[in-house]
This record gives sequence, structure tokens and C-alpha cells, in this order.
Amino acid sequence: MKFFVDTADVQAIHELNDMGFVDGVTTNPSLIKKSGRDILEVIAEICDFVDGPVSAEVVATDYEGMIAEGNKLAQIADNIAIKVPLTIDGLKACKTFTSEGKMVNVTLCFSANQALLAAKAGATFISPFIGRLDDLNMDGLELIEDIRTIYDNYGYETEILAASIRTVNHISDCAKIGADVITAPPGVIKAMANHVLTDKGLATFVQDAKDAGIKIL
Ligand code: E4P
Repeated sequence: MKFFVDTADVQAIHELNDMGFVDGVTTNPSLIKKSGRDILEVIAEICDFVDGPVSAEVVATDYEGMIAEGNKLAQIADNIAIKVPLTIDGLKACKTFTSEGKMVNVTLCFSANQALLAAKAGATFISPFIGRLDDLNMDGLELIEDIRTIYDNYGYETEILAASIRTVNHISDCAKIGADVITAPPGVIKAMANHVLTDKGLATFVQDAKDAGIKIL
């Protein structure tokens, strides 16, 4: 399973990248706003050290605007995935970009039918938002399952990029279902290492080592 980091915080990406946890990066206008930086500058900085796809989202909502913005974003680096919203104009832009060999991440997906259209438009990635569905008492993971079934039924190569991840359980559940990629905030990825029994066991080992005077160096 591929791990993308869902942030525009360059330091946080560096830290996870050094541990081998970064197969790509996703950003969106809200994350760029949070970083307080210029989108072109921060995306270029991320592309300088991340080898995998780096999603940069258009802000136009019409086809022509998305094409102009997407082309500008794609000039930043070869590993840019142009992120477009799941609207008719976004799907049209997706088809244009993928026909030109550019990577496209179709975002804001909340239904299996939307995911089916994105695959037919040649999307490289489809981003179903698990957490935002769960927030409404709907079932985000069920959507991942449905998309997996549909894509497998027809052999679509669009990768399922589970987004809007809020918990570590979202990640293991997505792995069980067979999502191709997850994108999660740095804190959630790091929290995967936590277990209360690990902490308890380590405390015992540290104490026993001290009691026994065990020295390695
Ligand atoms: C990723 O591509 C999405 O933009 C992101 O995961 C959205 O997450 P949120 O619902 O926590 O804002």
C-alpha cells in the first residue's frame, strides 16, 4: 500500500520521508492556506525532494480555468498530479490532462457513481473522502469497498486514494479493503506506531536493564 502525506508542511514531509513513509504528497487549498505560503513556491519545494506524485489542486471551477491552472502547476515538476474537483468540468479537464499524459487526482468524491465517472475519464487517482462521510454518520469505508469492487469488476486502472483520513483504524481498514493509496495527516501516520502494550513492555525492559546493570556500550 502506498502512503501519501496530506499536508503542505515541508518539515513534516521531510521527517516522514527520511523514515521511508512518503510515496507521495497531497495538498488542497485549505492546506496551502494553513501553511501560509505561496502555492507555486511550496509545491516546488516539496517536488524537490519527494519522488512520488505531488497533488496540487486547481482553484478555478470552469473547464478553461482548470486547464490553464493545471498546465501551470504541471510545469513545476514531472511528478505533479493535477488535482481537479469531481464536477462535470473537472472530469472534462481530467480527460484532457490524462490524454496529454499528465497525472490527475480527481478529488471530493463521495459516491461510487462519481468514482465510476472518474475512471472513465482516465483519472490516475480517485480521492474518496472517508472522514467527511463519517462526520455525517455515513460509511466512508463502505464507499472504498464499493469502488474497489467496481474497479475490479471492469479492470479500471485508476488508483483508489483514500482521503480525509482521521484515524489509524481508517488506514488499517483501507489496507484490508485493498485501497491502493491512503493519504493522511503526518500525525495520523506517526500514531500508527503507538500501542499501549509497547509502551508498557518497554518501560519494563528499561527498568530490568537498569536493575541488572546491563550495559551494551
Ligand atoms: C486529500 O486529498 C484531501 O484534500 C484531504 O484528505 C481532505 O481531508 P479533510 O476532510 O480532513 O479536510
